[in-house]
Amino acid sequence: MSTYLGTGSTGPERTGLTGDAIRVRKGGARLVMLTAYDYPTARALDECGLDILLVGDSLGEVELGYDTTRAVSLEMMAHHVRAVRNGATRTHVCGDLTAGTYRTPEEAVGSARVLVAAGADSVKLEGGLIPQVAAIIADGIPVIGHVGLLPQTAVVYRREGTTPDEADRIAAEARALDAAGCCAIVIEAVPAELATRITAEVGAPTIGIAAGQECDGQVLVVTDLIGQLPNTPRFVKPKADVFGVVVGAAREFADEVRGAARVERQAM
Ligand code: KIV
Repeated sequence: MSTYLGTGSTGPERTGLTGDAIRVRKGGARLVMLTAYDYPTARALDECGLDILLVGDSLGEVELGYDTTRAVSLEMMAHHVRAVRNGATRTHVCGDLTAGTYRTPEEAVGSARVLVAAGADSVKLEGGLIPQVAAIIADGIPVIGHVGLLPQTAVVYRREGTTPDEADRIAAEARALDAAGCCAIVIEAVPAELATRITAEVGAPTIGIAAGQECDGQVLVVTDLIGQLPNTPRFVKPKADVFGVVVGAAREFADEVRGAARVERQAM
């Protein structure tokens, strides 16, 4: 296994972007972010010159098979951050603070430290919890904000910001996250016009998902991008069919094994 030595905390120096370097990308080259949850995927993505790998709590749904991101504990997140860090030295790794682990500024700092100790370069949290964001940044840890659809608290997954009041509320939340010093802000599942408006109103780069093409960057769940599960959200066009490749390889192996067994029995 020596060719697969992980990078770990004692491995090669990390050369990914810092939080400051992400923030100054506003209006410059678009930021490219993909989720990653495991070591082999992180190794492959680390070859690609991406800007950010997000160990998103979507891992609960697409990697662990639960029906909610709320099933992911901080310990589970740290475990996956470690695996991604072991595979990625050249890319900034952001870990999602998981549901119920940042209820107060003190708790938020403690949880962020756990993910940084596991190898994260920054953390992401959902919503306009400004005291929590300010406390984590004051502790020296970069924070990525997240507005629009917030899966940790959403009752149903739906497009947000479709009424003028909702749009104003989400835009105000993004402005407050920006003022608190977030190095980037994810905008999820809002109308393109609202994402465009927020992008113009904040100094931090925005990173959109299902929010049009006018953000400062884009993020996708890697599982959707590579077709690793048969059900892909409508807004994603998978660029590969990994599910089909796995099924094909396993069936070919099964056929070979069963064919060989039959030949051996016949030869006896
Ligand atoms: O958990 C996640 O994958 C995310 C992205 C959708 C931004 O938060």
